[in-house]
Amino acid sequence: MSTPQSTVLPENMSACIVIEADVTAGRLADVAQTCRQLAALLERHRSRQPQAHLGLAVGFAAGIWPQLRRNDAEGAEIKPFRPLGNGLAPATQHDIAIHIQSQSHGANMLLALDVLAAFGDALQVADETHGCRLFEDRGYDGFVDGTENPTDEQRPRYGVIAAPAADAGGSYLMLQKYRHDLKRWAKLDDAAQSHIIGRNKADDEELPGEARLPGTHLARVDLKENGEGLKIIRQSLPYGTASGEHGLLFIAYCARLHNIEQQLLSMFGETDGHTDLLLEHLSTAVSGSYYFVPSEERLADLAG
Ligand code: HEM
Repeated sequence: MSTPQSTVLPENMSACIVIEADVTAGRLADVAQTCRQLAALLERHRSRQPQAHLGLAVGFAAGIWPQLRRNDAEGAEIKPFRPLGNGLAPATQHDIAIHIQSQSHGANMLLALDVLAAFGDALQVADETHGCRLFEDRGYDGFVDGTENPTDEQRPRYGVIAAPAADAGGSYLMLQKYRHDLKRWAKLDDAAQSHIIGRNKADDEELPGEARLPGTHLARVDLKENGEGLKIIRQSLPYGTASGEHGLLFIAYCARLHNIEQQLLSMFGETDGHTDLLLEHLSTAVSGSYYFVPSEERLADLAG
């Protein structure tokens, strides 16, 4: 059995909490022990609020994963996030990611409190970000987000490592926060913004290929390799506060780190020198990290 952790496949959840943390020196065994108990904790919350459809995943960075896996072939692609595009994309790698999502922010909060209490001072929290779905699945930039996300049976194909691999049921996770400058964005009319995204703002129709500029977002991320689309599963949600920072909490899962990385390299000018126009007119990347998210069975049976 190799079951993906419960934030990887579900579609259209309305709220999330993402916590990134570092392991306190000498406490990795305690972290592993707590991870083994998380399934029972999640189950208690689910049975109390079944309508929330709670999901929870824990991912591990390259710095600690080798001590937790049972076999060198598990999560073999994992590596630290590196800065990209001459500092346009900073690296803020931490040891552990905790991703909670559901149809209820309240349910997420109650689970997050219990998860952090279970880890206690074995973890030092470095960042906590809350995301929530907006009207018509649009971002604060006004565009529908998620249209071309794989659906239904495509999701395990692209999102989860398949059997008989040693790490079947696992996924790679990329977290990257994008802080929007909505005043700058508002200086462009809808047509100009649509050319930057590659879809029409009002009706979400894809613009014809010839309307794409080299830096159009879709031209940067809609990639093919040997005729195969480099697909990923996006679980991103808008984040932030009305009076302060807000933007997109980009969350992507994939069976291969390669697919996510190729899209990032393309956005940040590291493939053909063109950078994504979103970075010039809308958004600044303020974090970036990679994690390996093992199957539920492996999470309950970590080494260490
Ligand atoms: C400021 C940050 C970003 C914003 C505002 C943004 C927004 C959007 C929007 C509006 C779409 C079109 C609708 C859709 O299919 O979802 C889209 C598509 C997409 N984005 Fe982003 N995105 C951002 C960052 C990223 C990053 C960092 C990646 C990957 C590394 C990425 C990968 C994709 C992919 C794969 C698609 C679908 C392409 C296709 O097959 O048509 N995006 N994005």
